[in-house]
Amino acid sequence: MNTPQHVAIIMDGNGRWAERRGQTRTSGHRKGVEAVRGAVRSAGELGVKYLTLFAFSSENWRRPEDEVNDLMGLLKVFIRRDLAELHRENVRVRIIGDRQTLKHDILALLTEAEDLTRNNRALELIIAFNYGGRDDIARAARLLASKAARGEIDPASICEETISAALDTADIPDPDMIIRTSGEQRISNFLIWQAAYAEFVFLPCLWPDFDRASFEDALREFGSRDRRFGNVAERDLALGS
Ligand code: FPP
Repeated sequence: MNTPQHVAIIMDGNGRWAERRGQTRTSGHRKGVEAVRGAVRSAGELGVKYLTLFAFSSENWRRPEDEVNDLMGLLKVFIRRDLAELHRENVRVRIIGDRQTLKHDILALLTEAEDLTRNNRALELIIAFNYGGRDDIARAARLLASKAARGEIDPASICEETISAALDTADIPDPDMIIRTSGEQRISNFLIWQAAYAEFVFLPCLWPDFDRASFEDALREFGSRDRRFGNVAERDLALGS
């Protein structure tokens, strides 16, 4: 099967999963963390090399304070509990998103996870935290503008590659497939630059129900797509049409 090198996931539906069971949104997010563990395992087993998970968007700060604190807490617990095992499994952990507005304790934890796993090669687990696609591009623009102002780069030399290299995802290949669960069909400011040629797969299941079979369904769907990157289909090339 044609396996995507980089899969990115918008993990949607934790709240609805909990509401349908008469439970709190927090319990939905907690169940969502279990699905994260499963997704990391499945990605490794299925031969995916990069897995990016949208854990907290720059817009999620608008949620009630309690829920924001719960999401921060869950990420901390995940790193504390799972880091040793991720390291044993040769998983490299990386964080994308704006670090400047994060509290010191969470930033320290995320940096520790990145430092410990820096040389791991089986799978790259990229956690998008305090991440927004437009914010990523705006920070890259500021970086390039300040380099130009210092005379380090020529503004006329700025091209697509220069911008890609100034994003949080600098040395990570663009996602081949973006999965969104819960039936919603939006990109919600996730990897908007990097998604230029990604295949979108929308799954009806809510994130806490995402399992190995859901991952395989998405991979099958990806395998059935004809990726042309602006070119014509290989079949048409062969026919000379
Ligand atoms: C969307 O569900 C989910 C989120 C905003 C957060 C996702 C976070 C986790 C799964 C836990 C932490 C992550 C890691 C990597 C440990 P929603 O609340 O918007 O659901 P709804 O649309 O049904 O309300």
